[in-house]
Amino acid sequence: ISLANQNYQSFLHCLYNNIQSSEGNSDILYTPSNSNYTSFYLSSIRNLRFVNSATTKPLLIIAPTNVSHVQASVVCARENGFSIRVRSGGHDYEGLSYREVDNSRQFVIVDLANLREIDVDVTRGTAWVQAGATLGELYYKISIKTNLYGFPAGICPTVGIGGHISGGGFGTMLRKYGLASDNVLDALLVDSNGDLLHKDSMGEDLFWAMRGGGGTSYGIVVSWKVKLVPVPPIVTVFTINRVMKEGAIDLMSKWQSIAPRLHEDLLIRIVAQQIYEGGERQVQAGFNALFLGECVQLVELMETDFPELGMRRQYCKEMSWIESALYFAFYTSDISKEALLDRGTEPYRYFKAKSDFVKEPIPKSALEKVLSLILDDNAGVIIMDPYGAKMDNISETATPFPHRKGNLYNIQYFTEWTQHDTTTYEERMRWIRNIYDEMEPYVSTNPRAAYINYRDLDLGINELVDGISSYEKGRIWGEKYFKGNFEKLALVKARVDPSDFFWNEQSVPPLFAGD
Ligand code: FDA
Repeated sequence: ISLANQNYQSFLHCLYNNIQSSEGNSDILYTPSNSNYTSFYLSSIRNLRFVNSATTKPLLIIAPTNVSHVQASVVCARENGFSIRVRSGGHDYEGLSYREVDNSRQFVIVDLANLREIDVDVTRGTAWVQAGATLGELYYKISIKTNLYGFPAGICPTVGIGGHISGGGFGTMLRKYGLASDNVLDALLVDSNGDLLHKDSMGEDLFWAMRGGGGTSYGIVVSWKVKLVPVPPIVTVFTINRVMKEGAIDLMSKWQSIAPRLHEDLLIRIVAQQIYEGGERQVQAGFNALFLGECVQLVELMETDFPELGMRRQYCKEMSWIESALYFAFYTSDISKEALLDRGTEPYRYFKAKSDFVKEPIPKSALEKVLSLILDDNAGVIIMDPYGAKMDNISETATPFPHRKGNLYNIQYFTEWTQHDTTTYEERMRWIRNIYDEMEPYVSTNPRAAYINYRDLDLGINELVDGISSYEKGRIWGEKYFKGNFEKLALVKARVDPSDFFWNEQSVPPLFAGD
């Protein structure tokens, strides 16, 4: 038998010896011959771009049901020369939690879907959340215990806690409470030696790096202890849609300087997309807001700070915070909150996204140009999330996420399509890359910044020198995500994972003293 096969057998032995399960391991170790292998593999994949015959599948999927299984996975994989992809919610925009880009390595997936306990402590206002839980599960679990607390993380309920918090994580409470990663109190991490570390045993630098430095690089996060944040019993949401002839461009233009300066309790994001109205194609800017308070106060604030939007009482929808999570996720709060528990089963669409940060208001002419690109091709959506407030009060170096004071808003360009669409992969890629090129003069420079959780491999990928990712090459993409913090991230990587075991195409490369 070949060496590779010998190694694989020895790897499996190591796992069988270390992972005991009453059901004979078939619920923990999924080899390709396991009848549930494919459905489990697909269950959290969100992007069909990476589900095709050219994508190499993992040799094995390990779905730990307790922490010792995670440790055994690391030890056994390392001993036998296999690499690991770590998956929590599987939402990585470039599929890095379940595929290798050049298909050159034999890898296994450690999938944390079965590690998803959530323990909410209302008295202390904290929660321990295992990495395989989703945002929806966390929001739901908080809401069945209390309506006094929420958690400031992303909008899509199926996103995994593991990857999301590792890369920052933001949603409708960003302006009041910052990122999900800004609200982490402690964490459990399995490092490249298979040791289980917590905040006090891992060292301050590693605890800093894992809160925003992106998933994968430092080990496998098993759980996060998070600080819950107070929410009022009644919050208010509204959506006001405006097309061009209703002054969408003027409103977007004003929004740029108003939205980042609004009261911290108010976040108004914009979703710009093409719609059909009266048989006509138009671009619509949707102003979508969450206010942590009641309608009366919101209307007052809007009249003073953003009268141009014409926000009136009739636009208000008052509800509980958990209903607002439903509203943003499903465009309605009129469904049962159990919908937040649905983890999905398999991918149904292809997509590609890119991101930018804006520091100076974009001229109207440029906004017009961008919206016309949406109209021309109907290829995508642009989402603008305002920063300011709390984001201005956290220093650039407090955590690896550097996009703080001075950023007005984040833009996400997003294109999606299904098998039934007539547009091709090439057309969609051309559209999103073109709009990104068009925006270059108007967005952050030196570096042109990007958000790690909207992962974009166009920014660059790791290059190996003697089997270890090169720090110099990594700077090309790394400083876009992390600016000056990239160097510190790389120094931490050298300390905790010098052999670069936890690797992917955009994992942080190690920087050794003297390099
Ligand atoms: P996944 O499991 O794919 O992991 C992402 C990365 O982290 C991979 O590199 C993976 O290896 C690594 N990783 C995962 N679990 C780990 C663990 N336990 N330990 C160490 N490394 C781990 N973002 C946002 O800020 N706000 C939002 O509102 C949204 N909304 C949104 C909607 C949709 C439909 C998608 C597809 C994505 C978003 N995102 C988002 C982006 C999201 O935050 C980002 O993709 C997260 O990394 C996803 O985390 P998952 O655990 O789901 O992904």
